Amino acid sequence: MKTSFCAVAALAAIASAHSWLGCTDHDNVEILKWMEGNATLTPPVTIDPLMPWFANFCKGWPRAKSNPGDWIAESSNYVWNIAANSFNGETHACHPNQRGPTYEGNAPMATAAPGGSVRLMFGGNGHARGGNVGGDPGTVTVYWKGEPEAEIVDISEFTEENKLQSDGFSAESFAYPANVLTPQEGLQDKGNWQTLNLPKAMIPGRHMFVWVWSYQNAPQWSTCFDIMVQ
Ligand SMILES: *[C@@H]1O[C@H](CO)[C@@H](O)[C@H](O)[C@H]1NC(C)=O
Repeated sequence: MKTSFCAVAALAAIASAHSWLGCTDHDNVEILKWMEGNATLTPPVTIDPLMPWFANFCKGWPRAKSNPGDWIAESSNYVWNIAANSFNGETHACHPNQRGPTYEGNAPMATAAPGGSVRLMFGGNGHARGGNVGGDPGTVTVYWKGEPEAEIVDISEFTEENKLQSDGFSAESFAYPANVLTPQEGLQDKGNWQTLNLPKAMIPGRHMFVWVWSYQNAPQWSTCFDIMVQ
């Protein structure tokens, strides 16, 4: 019995440690206040910005993203597991559905001006304080070729030269209660963001980016997206 319990626990651990971009241009000003306010209610109420009824706060989407998204389906069909795929010799940077600038009609790519910024949104999924990923939630890094219409294809292109910005997975996040590290202890970590600053010298046009969540010193999960710079 002990063996089967461990197998189930290991499977749950593998299945649960993942995250992806739900939105590439998220206005979190109002919803962050709701999240903070609702967390102080008795009992606390968790506001999850990934829920479909909050889709109006999103102004830009990743490639091949539905609006509103179904995060339950996305958590198995949409995420790209770099660690598992590269172990099998498959080293694409992006999920098969994200290997070109394909967008659904009501979920277009973000737009921004040179020198502007967009706020990427992703789920903490229980890992915002390092739970289940080795105690350190790791980093989120955005890679970019530096010019319009240029595609990062392979994980070998996750280089210093192509690195646009790197931040802690939870550098911009909201989680409660204080001092609690894991979902088993009651952690609620529904909002993680990364504000991506675009260089002033960006050439107008469509720019492709790969967002990568790394932990335990390896790239683990990616989402691919574009920004129309104008
Ligand atoms: C709780 O969230 C709702 C939105 O779901 C919001 O209207 C309300 O003002 C929030 N309450 C607090 C105390 O922040």
